[in-house]
Amino acid sequence: MDCRFDFPALVNNPELVYLDSAASSMKPKATIDMINKYYTEYSTNIERGVYKQAMEATSIVEETRKEVADFINAKSSEIIFTRGCTDSLNYVALMFKSILKEGDEVITTPLEHHSSFLPLLKASKDIGFKIRFVELNEHNQITVENFKKVLNKNTKLVQITHVSNVLGFKSPVEEIIKLSHEVGALVSLDGAQAIPHERIDVKALDTDFYSFSFHKMCGPTGLGILYGKYELLNKFDPVELGGEMNDEVTKTSVTYKEVPYKFESGTLPIAEIFGAKGCIEYLNKIGYDYIHETSLSLRNYALSLLKEIKEVEIYNDIEESTVIAFNIKGVHSHDAVMALSEHNIAVRAGHHCAEILHTDVLCVPSTLRASFYFYNTKEDVLKFVLAVKEVIKFFKEVGLCE
Ligand SMILES: Cc1ncc(COP(=O)(O)O)c(C=O)c1O
Repeated sequence: MDCRFDFPALVNNPELVYLDSAASSMKPKATIDMINKYYTEYSTNIERGVYKQAMEATSIVEETRKEVADFINAKSSEIIFTRGCTDSLNYVALMFKSILKEGDEVITTPLEHHSSFLPLLKASKDIGFKIRFVELNEHNQITVENFKKVLNKNTKLVQITHVSNVLGFKSPVEEIIKLSHEVGALVSLDGAQAIPHERIDVKALDTDFYSFSFHKMCGPTGLGILYGKYELLNKFDPVELGGEMNDEVTKTSVTYKEVPYKFESGTLPIAEIFGAKGCIEYLNKIGYDYIHETSLSLRNYALSLLKEIKEVEIYNDIEESTVIAFNIKGVHSHDAVMALSEHNIAVRAGHHCAEILHTDVLCVPSTLRASFYFYNTKEDVLKFVLAVKEVIKFFKEVGLCE
């Protein structure tokens, strides 16, 4: 199956080798068409208007909520539309900020994206609860053994990345969730890098919260999901206040709508929700088996070729990952990424919003990240590896590469 032609930005940039899907995936026509449908056929607000277009737009948004719920095996009432994974993770931290006290503990990991860690850090500084970090093993992975070392009866929340955005490693979340529940702690997973590659079943996982963004999984930018177990969402107060999330307002009081609406204040990203509908239908048509196997095999093919280049340092030499974290020895990642761009290769450089991982664990200021998705091809891999060789040759000529 060659999916490239489903993606207008790939068709319009035939020379581009796009290996930056972990930052944002390409968007298929199915997604774009639905966004366009909203603007060209509706363009109204939702939930408020009592005329045909507004009511139809509202029912498409609610249909999409149900499709998102089915997609991750949740109930519609457990799906909160947010503006992205960052927004969802901030919601979780703010919800817990309202119930945690000094002496409580929250567990997280050095692999976290800043969107997962910083809201927690701020809440802990404001409230005084303690953040404990799971130590990584020699391969920089989270293990159940190391998790057990920081779990105790004071643990109230475990905030953990499902898949690392830098290394692509999967956390042993099933066991972590089970152990956390045994001590009465709740678990919030950052699924931003997991859901683009694997079918997520929140019920089977038994996670309490799950956050993700649509733009990394062929959907629109500006739309995220916060899944929360219904009974938990019911217990928390809304974190953002504004229009449409309330029932009755007086000069001195307010009552809130029921879950999930009490968490959705203001006008939702309606066009993006339409786009998510197209995205889900598209992903269901392609199927996760194909998505996962294609990304993984292309990545492992690229890894095997990169490993033969002695000037390349690789930080995640394991099979179960769809990204390659690497550096060209002696060359700053920002110089390398610009040189690769001259060869039409799009990879990402920097600390990828995971600064703790870089400074405390990998002990380098930055890395290059090549991330693979199902619309990539073997030809992309060959062009990428050839470009890395060319770039190394160039840096050697100017005396930069070791
Ligand atoms: C693991 C992880 N968590 C959270 C985020 C934040 O997602 P967004 O920027 O879409 O809000 C990202 C984005 O790169 C990520 O990779």
